[in-house]
Amino acid sequence: NMPLDTLLRRPADIIGSADSAEHARIPLPRDLFQPQRINSRGVEFGERAAVNRLVAEIAVEHVSIVPVNDSGPEDVNRAVAAARSGFSSWSRAPAAVRAAAMDRAADLLEQRSARFIALLQREGGKTLDDCVSEVREAADFCRYYAAEGRKLFGDAQPLPGPTGERNTLRLRGRGVFAAISPWNFPLAIFLGQVTAALMAGNTVVAKPAEQTPRIATEVVHLLHQAGIPEAALHLIQGDGHIGAALVAHRDIAGVVFTGSTEVARSINRTLAAKDGPIVPLIAETGGINAMIADATALPEQVADDVVTSAFRSAGQRCSALRLLFVQEDVADRMIEMIVGAARELRIGDPSDPATHVGPVIDREAKDRLDAHIARMTREARVHFAGLTPSSGNFVAPHIFELDDARQLTEEVFGPILHIVRYSASGLDGVLDSVADTGYGLTLGIHSRIDDTIETVADRLQVGNIYVNRNMIGAVVGVQPFGGHGLSGTGPKAGGPHYLTRFATEQTVTVNT
Ligand code: SER
Repeated sequence: NMPLDTLLRRPADIIGSADSAEHARIPLPRDLFQPQRINSRGVEFGERAAVNRLVAEIAVEHVSIVPVNDSGPEDVNRAVAAARSGFSSWSRAPAAVRAAAMDRAADLLEQRSARFIALLQREGGKTLDDCVSEVREAADFCRYYAAEGRKLFGDAQPLPGPTGERNTLRLRGRGVFAAISPWNFPLAIFLGQVTAALMAGNTVVAKPAEQTPRIATEVVHLLHQAGIPEAALHLIQGDGHIGAALVAHRDIAGVVFTGSTEVARSINRTLAAKDGPIVPLIAETGGINAMIADATALPEQVADDVVTSAFRSAGQRCSALRLLFVQEDVADRMIEMIVGAARELRIGDPSDPATHVGPVIDREAKDRLDAHIARMTREARVHFAGLTPSSGNFVAPHIFELDDARQLTEEVFGPILHIVRYSASGLDGVLDSVADTGYGLTLGIHSRIDDTIETVADRLQVGNIYVNRNMIGAVVGVQPFGGHGLSGTGPKAGGPHYLTRFATEQTVTVNT
């Protein structure tokens, strides 16, 4: 019973009274205990019976890990040619028809949520609460883009003009979109990219991450069953080489990519070097995401939000906290509380509902993170080194203190937190350090001073700013997600401007 008891405890039981002695060991991140839902109809996560049911349903799903064949260059040619021939009819289908298919896809996804949770656990190594959130986010993307698409791609918009002239503006699909998605949200980001491109009237050739090919395969089946014509959506499998061949294909009219800054740059170079039309790139990449906690912040809340932001999903979110700036007057106490909270995290089998930190995606990721931990252990002060299980691709949470933020030179995509102290008069220096990273994805602020919040938000070009809360888990349509600079091109996924970037605009002027 213990795992479910733990899972179902409510925030109030965890946070307790305002007594500091209790807070030195805040057990767990608050987010893990908030009742969560799959939209309005799915699983009520705050309800014991429902969680029991869900766990039982997932257990009977047999996810066979059979190898998936890589596509070759010929498959890329065939997929692009087929998507090209499917463009004319799909782009002319009424927006309402395209949107209805997206809504049906969301319904099917919810009906099969246990299946997709099992796939996410098995192939992506994700914890139960991460899987539930991801299925919900994926369904949200379908419904949100359907609703936005009905508005944007319905009737042409009338524009003013002199008497005797009728002007209208309409949005149309561009052609064949290449959608290249990452392993860390193999369901939600894959589906978000594909549904946005399709809703805008494009046909799609999708290339999922090579680590998570089966989820993508099942999603494509689901979309076809939901009413997306087979000619409109194609899947190719393989690593970066096959992605590069897709991007380089002469008939690609647009690329949507989520992954590393380095790969986004290389896609940009490939597109720039191509003959023919200028092809747009929508890229969402990473960040050296910072949080600033000043002396007015509530320490127990900071500890809770830091642990959630840095360690949930084993730190494998592009939104995750990497660099925490703490005002020196309160630093010792805050660090003690953060370490106390981190100590309580359970690392291990992601199918156990009591697990907070599952494995990282593969051996290569583990080796890279272990090497970073080894370097930090030599160069920084170690506040916390979690116990890593001896077998499997696990990396335990680690907390290091740096003398200078510049010691962290690149995004470290795992459960590793870096802390830097700053003086009461040092906020400007902190903002310079954050700006100097060149990234601009997420930022957390813990402060009760309105002026500080405004100054920070004003000074920094960051896509998503979270004040006095954790900084992960953007909700579709509520916190449109995406950043600037090294973090991406915009527009924001799950936001009102996203679909427009997948489209061309056409003005028709009629002399009446
Ligand atoms: N959209 C995700 C989040 O907000 C991406 O990392 O956490």
